[in-house]
Amino acid sequence: MSSKVTGSITVTMEGSNKSTTLPLLGGTLGPQVADIRKLYGELGIFTYDPGYGATASCESTITYIDGDEGVLLYRGYPIEQLAEKSTFLEVAYLLLNGELPTKAQYAEFDTGVTRHTMLHEQLRRFFDGFRRDAHPMAVMCGVVGAMAAFYHDNLNINDPEQRRIAAFRLIAKVPTIAAWAYKYSIGQPFMYPRNDLGYAENFLYMLNAVPAEPWVNNPILSRAMDRILILHADHEQNASTSTVRLAGSTGANPFACIAAGIAALWGPAHGGANEAVLKMLAEIGKPENIPAFIREVKDKNSHTKLMGFGHRVYKNFDPRAKIMKETCHEVLAELGIKNEPLLDMAMEMERIALSDDYFISRKLYPNVDFYSGIILKAMGIPTQMFTVLFAVARTVGWVSQWKELIEDPSQRIGRPRQIYTGPAARDFVPMDRRG
Ligand code: SDX
Repeated sequence: MSSKVTGSITVTMEGSNKSTTLPLLGGTLGPQVADIRKLYGELGIFTYDPGYGATASCESTITYIDGDEGVLLYRGYPIEQLAEKSTFLEVAYLLLNGELPTKAQYAEFDTGVTRHTMLHEQLRRFFDGFRRDAHPMAVMCGVVGAMAAFYHDNLNINDPEQRRIAAFRLIAKVPTIAAWAYKYSIGQPFMYPRNDLGYAENFLYMLNAVPAEPWVNNPILSRAMDRILILHADHEQNASTSTVRLAGSTGANPFACIAAGIAALWGPAHGGANEAVLKMLAEIGKPENIPAFIREVKDKNSHTKLMGFGHRVYKNFDPRAKIMKETCHEVLAELGIKNEPLLDMAMEMERIALSDDYFISRKLYPNVDFYSGIILKAMGIPTQMFTVLFAVARTVGWVSQWKELIEDPSQRIGRPRQIYTGPAARDFVPMDRRG
């Protein structure tokens, strides 16, 4: 499906008789877009949209968000149905290929991923170059980027088969790299992937098993992990996905593009928010301190944000936050954790914020990161690994969006313009005549 012309919009420059008519394009769902590609040529003006809040950077068939209604669709399927009925690997196939797999297609895809989970042995040594206390996201940036040094020679991104293998390598190896980054930080031996385990199970195995004793899968935790991966898999043109697309638009190696996405995800305003939520709750300490913290957030001079709240697109509940909150209760109950102070704090924080006009008027609701950290902590995942887990899941979305970009015949190198407000042209002044 591609966009269609649904109308037009005329732009007239006041004070001159210059005007132009721009086509309006419509897709399957969502707002129409004004196609401004000829605006500069016809009127000599750029558009200005810092943060790209109202700018469509591409045409995509992968994910759709309705921020006002709190809707999230992966290839048209509601996230609520996929979280309940699907698996991460099936969702990965759907995001990459556009349709849910048949039994045979799924079996082939599962085998393809399974057969690519091991790392080149020389990549193992790469970890030794990091300090033990390095943030695992720094290790992820480094080691995923280094994959470009191991697979660069035979990668023609215009060859569909080579794109398919690169996708398998990234989706399959990123969990291994993530788990080894954690093992390295705690000085435990690396656990090699096991081909007899499912994707989420294998990730938990590599994170938690030790060679000294057998490891037993906890189906509650692996099911919860699989659902968390589904919820984080893709999300339209967010900051890290746009980073991957911009890098991909230059024809860069896909491993380098995904490493760029990991770097962008790390920021606390984006994927780093799940780690920041736990830090925020720990600093608040107890429920009676919440009102004072909310007052601080509302004081602009404090520059304090309520982490895990707000979203560029969702001006209603993030549907993933709702599912995450339900999963949180399920996991804690199934783990026999009667009361989790952090969850109580988070729920009280949500209650207070959602009844406060500051948040209501700005349409600030819990986002995917507000509850995820609490589940992950209950599952024994260390806080510094939360964003790493987000990166493991989002690698599927990044690779799917990168593949769509490369396969889009209209794609061209991304190169935004600017409003220049620096000095006008001036002549050089020799040092002895300055000051
Ligand atoms: C993710 O884009 C995606 O899809 C991202 C993501 C994905 O799956 O890829 O969904 C994952 O990144 C989720 C967001 C995680 N980040 C956080 O939880 C960090 C806290 N949130 C904020 O930093 C903020 O809400 C953003 C960054 C998420 C969105 O920022 P915007 O769209 O630029 O919103 P804004 O800064 O313009 O906010 C509008 C107003 C401002 O106040 P005023 O200037 O109108 O007075 O709301 C305020 C902001 O100061 N505001 C907040 C707030 N978020 C916005 N005030 C307090 N706490 C907050 N969290």
